[in-house]
Amino acid sequence: MHPARRRSLLKLTAASLAAAPLAPRPADALPRAGAEAATAVPTAAPGIVKPLPTAYFTVRGTNAESRFDAFRGTGPLTSADRFFVRNHTTTPRIDERDWSLTVWGSGLDGGPVRFGYGELRSLPSVTRTAVLECAGNGRTLFTTQQGQPVSGTSWTLGAVGAARWRGVRLRDVLLRAGLSAAAVEVMPRGLDAPFVSEGVDHGRVRRPLPVAKALDDVLLAYEMNGEPLPYDHGYPVRVVVPSWIGIASIKWVGDIEVSDTPLSSPWNTRFYRFFGDAHPPEGSAPLTRQTLKSAIELPFGATVAAGTTHRLTGRAWSAHAPVERVDLSTDGGVSWRPVSLCDTPRRDEWVRWSAPWCPRSAGPAELLTRTTDRAGNTQPARAVHNTQGYLFDAVVRHPVTVE
Ligand code: MTE
Repeated sequence: MHPARRRSLLKLTAASLAAAPLAPRPADALPRAGAEAATAVPTAAPGIVKPLPTAYFTVRGTNAESRFDAFRGTGPLTSADRFFVRNHTTTPRIDERDWSLTVWGSGLDGGPVRFGYGELRSLPSVTRTAVLECAGNGRTLFTTQQGQPVSGTSWTLGAVGAARWRGVRLRDVLLRAGLSAAAVEVMPRGLDAPFVSEGVDHGRVRRPLPVAKALDDVLLAYEMNGEPLPYDHGYPVRVVVPSWIGIASIKWVGDIEVSDTPLSSPWNTRFYRFFGDAHPPEGSAPLTRQTLKSAIELPFGATVAAGTTHRLTGRAWSAHAPVERVDLSTDGGVSWRPVSLCDTPRRDEWVRWSAPWCPRSAGPAELLTRTTDRAGNTQPARAVHNTQGYLFDAVVRHPVTVE
């Protein structure tokens, strides 16, 4: 049995013995959708194991998008029960006793090396907070905001979360496996079923990483926020590649090819590159680093009362550098003012922000937020189009109705 299931059975028993009083609602005027989760009807996505209450998730095919408004009132880390799931196929339920990781290929000095689960856990561990974000997060805004067609999962802004990951440095495992000086790339591969799309079998999910990145800050993680990884997030072991697009962070990793020549897979040739008019005919180089964004913890189209001071909240993040500032416009982009940051900005993390807003007159309004990071990047007014809708970075025009 997955260790978290054992624990949640215990928790349920404890909860039925002593029903805790509900936490008081903070004195702010905006709705807190996440607070209604206990009563919300769960939805289902084929192949996702965890419950997907509608207050926390929107199901999109085999994936579950986090509702950004469900992050309101929560801490800087995204709990597993609200963390988005991006599955090419279905979540495999792997028993850690049957699991092992094989490191193999021309980039090793010797033959293949296997690591069992216990062996991996006995290696020195590190803990690191990192945002994990799908390259397609915000994709629908290319269409709704810029009028441009894109293909792929119709994410709004909730294909992102931040967690505290604990595991072993990929560097330590590669060195133990006999990494050769000639190695140039490594390619972790998942144990989930092969991905078949439009009749083409692309094989199991895998994507190359340059050795320099693999040796830098990449983890083989077995814990998320202090608990064993949930099934949907890669149990027993996943790769976590801080600051890179989510596809690099292979879940349910079963083997890692180490090569002395460059590697390729559909996930760095056909997918996860820029294609379209603004890019070379063969596509851009494979995408690596994520971009920067900000989002408001309020549903799109929310209704807010006129003449009342609301506390707007949200999150801002950049894969390039810590967040420097976040600006807010409540008049559709005419004037801007800085918001208060609630967390110390750090590399690979996001910051929560808050700002008071008292809408004066009734009618439709647009709220805009704009992140600037310490490397000098600022969200542009328009994102550069690409046919698969990757790396949307533009300022989002968040519609609300004032009544
Ligand atoms: N790893 C495997 N084996 N299979 C997958 O479908 N999806 C990738 C990545 N790793 C995927 C995978 C993508 S596109 C993303 S964005 C992240 O996992 C999502 O991680 P999460 O589901 O834990 O949020």
